[in-house]
Amino acid sequence: MQAGWHIVVLDNLCNSESSTIQRLGAMGHGVPEFVQGDVRDAALLDKVFASHPITAVMHFAGLKAVGESWQQAARYLDNNVGGTACLAAAMERAGVRRLVFSSSATVYGQPDAVPIAESAPLRTTNPYGRSKLLCEDMLCELRAADSRWQVALLRYFNPVGAHASGLIGEKPSGIPNNLMPYITQVASGQHPFLRVFGDDYPTVDGTGVRDYIHVVDLAKGHLAALRYLEQEGKGITVNLGTGRGVSVLQLVAAFTRATGVPIPYQILPRRPGDVASCYAATDLAWDALGWCAQLPIEAMCADAWRWERTSQAAGNVHD
Ligand code: UD1
Repeated sequence: MQAGWHIVVLDNLCNSESSTIQRLGAMGHGVPEFVQGDVRDAALLDKVFASHPITAVMHFAGLKAVGESWQQAARYLDNNVGGTACLAAAMERAGVRRLVFSSSATVYGQPDAVPIAESAPLRTTNPYGRSKLLCEDMLCELRAADSRWQVALLRYFNPVGAHASGLIGEKPSGIPNNLMPYITQVASGQHPFLRVFGDDYPTVDGTGVRDYIHVVDLAKGHLAALRYLEQEGKGITVNLGTGRGVSVLQLVAAFTRATGVPIPYQILPRRPGDVASCYAATDLAWDALGWCAQLPIEAMCADAWRWERTSQAAGNVHD
């Protein structure tokens, strides 16, 4: 909206709250139209396309917890793969064939080498990852079958942080699986210490290395991808990362540097399924989209912490 787009949000609120829409209004760019509903509801999608002059779709409606995907594999396939198929069919009926899709670096599985280029082998190790790869395959098939389809597959690395206003951010339900929300919860006293999963990886300090990217940079990557589709008239598959690897302990240190809050931690055994090191090759994003991540790790930490505090102050405490 800040970039001048008029948007319609469709969300089934299975992992979010409608109050977020009102808070978007406080950011000064208007309140988007909101439709509560499911991406697998074909009749609803037809209605939304029929009643708005939609030119492009950004599809974020995926479940993303690896552990949960083992327990609920059918749900993950239905929501992620079925949802994408249903959306693509509705877009086809409506004649809207421009799509930006949230994929994930999880499609690279255990990478052979870092930084990871888009041409690296694709493999997955869990139902969540498989669902993303199936969506990618399906959307590539559409691109191949009908050149009118313009699809951007965006492979996210590790999105963290929040909008600097402190008005919007992530609210994990239950105990967070991901590192940054766990750190902010330790900082606010909800957990006594951070569990660091493994310090014997072949990395700078033995802890896992990831490519953390600020959500605002990630959002700008989506706008760049949309511009690419409009201007080039064809699709693209591209990494969205910073290209910089940061270890767990480096992130902990950056958090304390940025916020002044110490994070006690204990070293635990490795978490099953984790890779040692995962960060992006970013040449294609720069060459094709003219986009690169700009916000440093300290901004990711400061913004995540601001959001944790404002959301708590608003009584928006984590479940
Ligand atoms: C995880 C998923 C990935 C998914 C992404 C969504 C796994 C194996 N991968 O990525 O498929 O796309 O989330 O955001 O689940 N860590 C700790 N203590 C914690 C939490 C994490 O030490 O309490 C470490 C991990 O071992 C890892 C790093 O922090 O080295 C990042 O972990 P996390 O934030 O969960 O992201 P990924 O595992 O990279």
